[in-house]
Amino acid sequence: MNKKKMLQLTCATLALFIGGGVTADEFTKQDLQRWQAEYMAAVKAGRDVFTDPKLGSNGIVCAQCHPNGANTHPETYPKFQKQLGKVAQMWEMVNWCIRNPLEGKDLAANDPRMTNMLAYIAHERRGKTLTPGKH
Ligand code: HEC
Repeated sequence: MNKKKMLQLTCATLALFIGGGVTADEFTKQDLQRWQAEYMAAVKAGRDVFTDPKLGSNGIVCAQCHPNGANTHPETYPKFQKQLGKVAQMWEMVNWCIRNPLEGKDLAANDPRMTNMLAYIAHERRGKTLTPGKH
């Protein structure tokens, strides 16, 4: 076998191995139940943050202006946001609202409170068709 052929064979074998690795993992009904429970726990925790007067510094809560996630439009992200002057993700607008109406400090994008709030907002708007960029 020449070098080129050997390389081809090695690549093909590797692809088989790696390919096998990326096929969907097996999961059971119990897994699904556990994951759904974890997700719903995040949604519930997100609602708590959304209604927490201690998130900002002035006692105002998200739900006062966005009852049940109203006017948050998660299905339109990413999109250009005038307030930020760029195409933004929704967590960046959440931080805009924390800084402005709530007079608080930004949360990191991967802060569990941010993840939970995003889960709560998306859950409230579930079923909406994705329309990224829309105003
Ligand atoms: C005093 C009222 C007020 C409060 C309190 C408030 N917001 Fe907002 N929120 C606004 C306004 C005004 C906008 C800007 C709407 C626009 O021009 O897109 C906005 C925009 C948003 C958007 C983007 C909406 C869109 O259509 O793209 C999200 C998401 C959001 N707020 C989440 C939150 C979260 C989370 C909190 C709590 C941390 C919060 N808001 C608190 C008034 C408020």
